[in-house]
Amino acid sequence: MAWDPSSWKQKQNAQDVAYDDPQAVDRAVTRLRELPPLVTSWEIERLKSQIADAQEGKRFVLQGGDCAETTADCRRTPIVNKLKILLKMSLVLILGGRKPIVRVGRFAGQYAKPRSSPTEKRGDVELPSYYGDLVNRAEFTPEARKPDPQHLLSGYHHAAMTLNFIRSLTAGGFADLHHPEYWDLSFFESAQLTPQLREEYQQITRQLADALRFMEALGEGSVDELSRVEFFTSHEGLNLHYESAQTRTVPRREGFYDLTTHLPWIGERTRALDGAHVEFFRGVRNPLGIKLGPKVTVDDVHRLLDVLNPGEEPGRIVLISRMGAGKVAEALPAILSGMKGRKVLFMCDPMHGNTISTASGIKTRNYDAILKELEATFDAHASVGTTLGGVHFELTGEDVTECVGGASGVTESDLTRNYESLCDPRLNQAQALELAFRIAHRLRR
Ligand code: PEP
Ligand code: CO
Repeated sequence: MAWDPSSWKQKQNAQDVAYDDPQAVDRAVTRLRELPPLVTSWEIERLKSQIADAQEGKRFVLQGGDCAETTADCRRTPIVNKLKILLKMSLVLILGGRKPIVRVGRFAGQYAKPRSSPTEKRGDVELPSYYGDLVNRAEFTPEARKPDPQHLLSGYHHAAMTLNFIRSLTAGGFADLHHPEYWDLSFFESAQLTPQLREEYQQITRQLADALRFMEALGEGSVDELSRVEFFTSHEGLNLHYESAQTRTVPRREGFYDLTTHLPWIGERTRALDGAHVEFFRGVRNPLGIKLGPKVTVDDVHRLLDVLNPGEEPGRIVLISRMGAGKVAEALPAILSGMKGRKVLFMCDPMHGNTISTASGIKTRNYDAILKELEATFDAHASVGTTLGGVHFELTGEDVTECVGGASGVTESDLTRNYESLCDPRLNQAQALELAFRIAHRLRR
């Protein structure tokens, strides 16, 4: 069947947004189509070739950022802190896995959220759910919750500002990353850590510090080089008005590129084989993530790959499992062995299968469940003989209290103290770094 950037409109959209003025959508999309691309095809192709390397075990991918990025958080400090935590985690992972790390943020466009219910009820009032800043606003008023196509443009502008700052920061380097001794590593003191693990973490930190001092001794320029690293962007390719408006051909290359981001992914709720999202993304040349929940079958995945990567192009497909800690052992091994011989990179998202609600109704995740899903995923790969090639986290560089547990000791009663996420709970920077040490430990084995 013929594909074009609007052929998805003929298909069922599981997360369709009910805009009430189709002409206003057309006007916004027309303007979005004229605006310059946010990323380039050569960056996208470079990421694809790095993912192809990762598929061969030569690189490891670290993907992380907000569940729902907000335009209000398009500010210096949250952006700097997000880059810093991803960079710190990646340095720890390099020492664990002895492989280059591909860094991918969930940022500069992670503004659209799928929802399980189209409406939200508070008391007697029922309003449309919050679908992310690309669609409506979180505030619980009829005006804020009304889907507004102008938000497509506002999302594009904030993505562009975010990306502009990220590109400048990464070109300049982060001087204060040069001394891991000064990072907040207080979780090393946690009573939960076995003495062996603590010793191993201290050793990793000493090695990092030594490596950086060695580079410093080589000449001042070289340490800056280390933090002058590349970041790629990613977001859930959910709002197809937004994605398709920035999808175009480029000179001297074949095919269409979605130029809103390097690595779009298809979410668990929108990966129906005959749905709008699979239709749209089969036609673009970007690498593509696909989230896989515990109910997915080997057949489902084969059929998705037949449609999304019929030529078995290396670097094209990233399968992101998000089963839930208790379901990995039962659900994942069959998928892994079923995919042997196909060109895919396996990543683990240990967040989305482990969301719970407290008695008072606050959404949270337990550090231990997140760690358990990671460990069980490493075990599943080991038992089948496949390789886990990356991890996917919801995290922030701030000291939020959204997930409980970990050595930082956030408890249920802390959750109200600094809970900022408008959607799912994120790891704070201490929890994220602690997990990086855990993964490094596992990669070393
Ligand atoms: C997400 O990554 O924020 C998300 C909604 O994930 P999933 O599609 O896996 O539920
Ligand atoms: Co989420």
